[in-house]
Amino acid sequence: MSSDKAKDALEMMPYGFYSITSCTDDDANIMVANWVTQASFEPRLIALGLQQTSYTHGLIEKGGSFAVNIFKQEDSELITPFTKSRNKKPEKMEEASYSQAPVTGCPVLDGAAAYIECRVIRIIDVGGDHDIVVGEVVGADVMKEGMPADMLTLPKLGWSYAG
Ligand SMILES: Cc1cc2nc3c(=O)[nH]c(=O)nc-3n(C[C@H](O)[C@H](O)[C@H](O)COP(=O)(O)O)c2cc1C
Repeated sequence: MSSDKAKDALEMMPYGFYSITSCTDDDANIMVANWVTQASFEPRLIALGLQQTSYTHGLIEKGGSFAVNIFKQEDSELITPFTKSRNKKPEKMEEASYSQAPVTGCPVLDGAAAYIECRVIRIIDVGGDHDIVVGEVVGADVMKEGMPADMLTLPKLGWSYAG
């Protein structure tokens, strides 16, 4: 415990762990993220807290779409190579093995359990270091069935991105 109780409490929130993929006609990127949630039933919306300085931010602005890739716990090694920024690791996509989601063309990593592809409907500057990207679900598929408890989470990895 620290003297910063807000930090302690924020770090207690249990998050899923996903890859967010983005694309334009001539580029594609994969990043990891946990600030991801469904935000509406009708229409089906997904909200993502996205670092303004990320490569993904620029690609999402240009391409207007993204996909959330969901993984089973035993497949964590498929996502961990993508923790570094494209800006720091320009060759990041060279080791990526993926197909393209049918509606948006965003990467679906080989071995992912499911994906949800979204068209961006709003990028909201909320006055912080992350923007809120809101996407409408335009496609999805399940490649490996399973319960939510079988899917990869940050607590399972012992990692944290909060506080
Ligand atoms: C465990 C973990 C969780 C993360 N969650 C988020 C997140 O929810 N949103 C975000 O913008 N960045 C998150 N990041 C940071 C991005 O993955 C990082 O900024 C990445 O370098 C961005 O990649 P890009 O610049 O190639 O787009 C997280 C990093 C880690 C290691």
